[in-house]
Amino acid sequence: MRKIEIYEVGPRDGFQNIPEYIALETKKKIIEGLLASGVAHMQITSFVSPKAIPQMKDATELTGYLVDKYPDADLMALVPNLRGAQGAWDAGLKTVSYVVSLGESHNKANIRRTHEESLSELLKIREALPDLDICLDLATTFGCPFEGKKYASDAVPFLKPYVEAGVSVINLCDTIGVANPAQVRETIDAVKAEYPDMELEVHIHDTRNMGMVNTLAAIERGVNKVQSTLGGLGGCPFAPGASGNLATEDLAFMLTEMGYDTGINIEKMVELAKYQLGEIPSGKFSGHLLRIQNKNTEE
Ligand code: COA
Ligand code: ZN
Repeated sequence: MRKIEIYEVGPRDGFQNIPEYIALETKKKIIEGLLASGVAHMQITSFVSPKAIPQMKDATELTGYLVDKYPDADLMALVPNLRGAQGAWDAGLKTVSYVVSLGESHNKANIRRTHEESLSELLKIREALPDLDICLDLATTFGCPFEGKKYASDAVPFLKPYVEAGVSVINLCDTIGVANPAQVRETIDAVKAEYPDMELEVHIHDTRNMGMVNTLAAIERGVNKVQSTLGGLGGCPFAPGASGNLATEDLAFMLTEMGYDTGINIEKMVELAKYQLGEIPSGKFSGHLLRIQNKNTEE
């Protein structure tokens, strides 16, 4: 049975869109519930400017608590710069995702950097923290809200200096949910052909109802680790119109039905998604199992 590793990113990609502060205790409950549901890999927060994303102001405290309590869990955080990477490392994380957008306009909107500045910041992180593992989150891999469609022929050369700088994983992100399965296949094949030893992940938003087919296309092209969020909570505060990610419990359901091993307890996860919905009423959720269950509860 082929194992597919689910990489839960809701506590970062989902929570960052919620304007009201989610209490630290609630964040802990959701994250610990995810671990108890069988999630082995999780992006738990981001070390970013609290002016840009106030929700993440508790990153150090939350990370310290989780790293102490779950030393064997594969936990990481998103960072936009050396300061964030240093914060994550000091809080006990061994892995971060460093985000850069293939569309330079989105990079400027999100991280306030040109491509050149993003690369030079990554090199600074490598130099200052050589033992920190870096997953490169390539935002807007398939399309940029400001520049339009992106192609494999844009991504492949763009990645070269990052591969040479020693990033351990490349995460192809469909930040605004515009990819289609043919494009996902083409991009993965092209990246693999050029960088055969690089581990690949995908992070697909469900904005146009293609989260599942695009993630499946990646899996069928050999990607073993895929990102999603509990309940399909998500978006990007700096990408107009971006909506939620593919819902983890829906993805786990499909993969389990197809005979893949995800290690996820789907019932527990749906219960947790319902709890999250209750705690974060202003959140936008795209999960289908969640919708069915809520309807059943109402009837
Ligand atoms: N952690 C905490 N604070 C940070 C920080 C970090 N990693 N990086 C910068 N800051 C603080 C600075 O200290 C400064 O604070 P001050 O105004 O009180 O002096 C402020 O943020 C601005 O810093 P500056 O270096 O001028 O950066 P900037 O204004 O160009 O902002 C980012 C750039 C990337 C730091 C900021 O826009 C950010 O954190 N964005 C988050 C992006 C994000 O998470 N997007 C969604 C995920 S894809
Ligand atoms: Zn995202």
